[in-house]
This record gives sequence, C-alpha cells and structure tokens, in this order.
Amino acid sequence: MNFNEVDVLFAEEEIQEKVAQLGRQITADYKGEDLLVVGILKGAFIFMADLVRKIDIPLELDFMSVSSYGTSTTSSGEVRIMKDLDYSIENKSVLIVEDIVDTGLTLNYICEILKKRDPKSVKICCLLDKPSRRKSPIRPDYVGYSIPDEFVVGYGLDYAGQYRGYPAVCILKPSVYEK
Ligand code: PRP
Repeated sequence: MNFNEVDVLFAEEEIQEKVAQLGRQITADYKGEDLLVVGILKGAFIFMADLVRKIDIPLELDFMSVSSYGTSTTSSGEVRIMKDLDYSIENKSVLIVEDIVDTGLTLNYICEILKKRDPKSVKICCLLDKPSRRKSPIRPDYVGYSIPDEFVVGYGLDYAGQYRGYPAVCILKPSVYEK
C-alpha cells in the first residue's frame, strides 16, 4: 500500500473479524433456506469471496454487473445491466452483496428488477454504508460499517480503476484526486 496516497480506515484483521460476524449472522438467519448470494461486480468481489467462506450453510453464487449513466462522481439513478444473472431466482432467498451503498440508486434499481422475478426474498449485505449520501429509500439488512462521506478505496473499492487489491479499507488523500 502506498501510504503517501491513503490512510487506513479499517485494517485487514479488523475487516476479517467483521466479515466473520456477518457470516455468523447470515448463517443463523438463512438456515434451511435456498440461499443465492448475488455479487454486484466489480467492487463486491473481494468482500463476497471472504463472506461466503464464513457462511456455514449450502449456498449458490451468481453475479450481476451494472453501469450507471452519468459522470463518475454523480450517479443519475439510471442503471444499465451489463451482465445479468445466469440463473432463475424464483423461490430463492436472494442476498445481494455490495462493497458500498452510497446514494442507494444502484441497489434501488437492482432490487426493483429482482423483485419482479418472484424470489422468496431479497436482502442486502454491504460492507460499507454511507447513509448521509442516500437519495433512495434503500436500507441494507446487513452492514459491516456505517461511514461518513469519505473517499474510500481498497478491499474491492477503486479510484480510477486502482487500489482494489489493497487488503485494508483506506481513505484516499485529497492530494490524489485533486491532482
Ligand atoms: C459502486 C458500488 C455500488 C455503487 C454504489 O460501484 O459498488 O455498486 O457504486 O453507489 P450508489 O449507492 O450511489 O448507487 P461502481 O459504480 O463504482 O462500480 P464498481 O463496483 O465496478 O467499482
């Protein structure tokens, strides 16, 4: 990690403990159900990989990729599906996994689409939540950390395509994006 560019917000060990906690809770809540864990690419890939290894019940995985219209910093709320799910979600207990919920517009759109496909339930698990930025009524069911409106990278989250592989969640220093 380049500490000239980032400050650690949540260290690797701390995140692992949090993910294990979420996994235990999800394991208890979904016992006996047909659980389908849906990751929203790309940001969710690391969190999801760690989370499913802490969920101790049979589950299936699927992925969706969406892209929002608008600039990189302002989301318009209009979302286009770049990759849809491979499988039917009818009668499945769907758990959407996200790295971060910000305005909530992306998840609002995804939930609307998925609910039309007759799942048994649709819930959301995110590692990070920025409730102060919300523009839609999305409320994640499982939240790792509620955070203030900081520019975060690492553990799947990027800035201009970089930093996703950092093992910690970090705050990007303004000197990097104000260049
Ligand atoms: C991020 C994140 C969510 C979305 C949240 O994805 O993974 O999908 O933004 O923002 P919202 O709550 O304001 O809609 P991004 O578009 O950066 O794509 P990525 O996952 O490929 O990095």
